[in-house]
Amino acid sequence: MTIQANWSYPTAIKFGAGRIAELAEQCKAIGLKRPLLVTDKALASLPITAAALDQLETAGLGRACFSEVDPNPNEKNMEAGIAAYKAGGHDGVICFGGGSALDLGKMIALMHDQTVSVWDLEDIGDWYTRADATKIAPIVAVPTTAGTGSEVGRAGVLTNSVTHKKKIIFHPKLLPAVTICDPELTVGMPKFITAGTGMDALAHCLEAYCSPFYHPMSQGIALEGMRLVFENLPKVYANPTDLEARAHMMSAAAMGAVAFQKGLGAIHSLSHPVGAVYNTHHGTTNAVVMPMVLDFNRTAIEDRIERAAAYLGIPGGFDGFRQKIMELRAELAIPETLSAMGVEAARLDELTEMALEDPSCGGNPVEMTRENTRALFAACL
Ligand SMILES: [Fe+2]
Repeated sequence: MTIQANWSYPTAIKFGAGRIAELAEQCKAIGLKRPLLVTDKALASLPITAAALDQLETAGLGRACFSEVDPNPNEKNMEAGIAAYKAGGHDGVICFGGGSALDLGKMIALMHDQTVSVWDLEDIGDWYTRADATKIAPIVAVPTTAGTGSEVGRAGVLTNSVTHKKKIIFHPKLLPAVTICDPELTVGMPKFITAGTGMDALAHCLEAYCSPFYHPMSQGIALEGMRLVFENLPKVYANPTDLEARAHMMSAAAMGAVAFQKGLGAIHSLSHPVGAVYNTHHGTTNAVVMPMVLDFNRTAIEDRIERAAAYLGIPGGFDGFRQKIMELRAELAIPETLSAMGVEAARLDELTEMALEDPSCGGNPVEMTRENTRALFAACL
């Protein structure tokens, strides 16, 4: 018997349209009295955020909001957030928004009272044990996009403002105590964010499904997550108020993040440096490189992609699956190449080095080397 693995499962999820109405009640249920709501600059001025703050205030929980969060948040955003957290005497964080707000809120909850540097808590081996777990604030997560899945994850991505490198910061206690998945909150997303975040969910499911590690639970979740994206992302893109399809996309996002405990791969290891250097949208960047990464991994994944295609009702095996991705990209007006996103050939060596340092590399079915990774980047241009 050689099968061995470490598995864990996610958290309490309050799922359904209108369930944002339970935010204050859920905060109280986990003992919060003065939560800090962390969101991004764009969301801060929207009615859904005001309504959430109104609800907290009415329930006697204050209406504190921190929104100095960049699209690819860095340690400066985190330090400003920690200052706000301390100044307000807060006792927990409500992470409200897309991936940036969710991840930065988690970093504030993690780091508000630690003595170690956040970079010492990168997702490497048992580095998380360097943190004082008793000083991590409780987290309530409220996603307003359907892609990142950070609402059910135990990590956050933070960009180093000096090196522009994205680091995954991990701690088991970063798993939110409660997550509210309310698809009504996603209805107002700009179309390109609906497309990009949805493709991030697909990338999580696809990379988890293709990763070589043994985790059959994740494998099953990833496969069903892909089905939900293929069937519902075109619907929400065409009709943003289709709440049922929005709900399925929210499920797919959470499923992607649960599944990628099994590993990510080259889509993310290419996308992270491109996002860090060019500030491109994470999920959109994933979608751009997705077909080329399928080609890159073909020899290792052809059999399992054929099985997926059969389940998904896609004719033509591997080639049919790849074609389906190309059609979906076109339907969602995703750029066809990294060049179209502004990536320059002159920086490929630098991007290649960054990709090889990215922890997602380890889950790619084909070993990534300097030569083949540079060639993959070139193919994506
Ligand atoms: Fe992602």
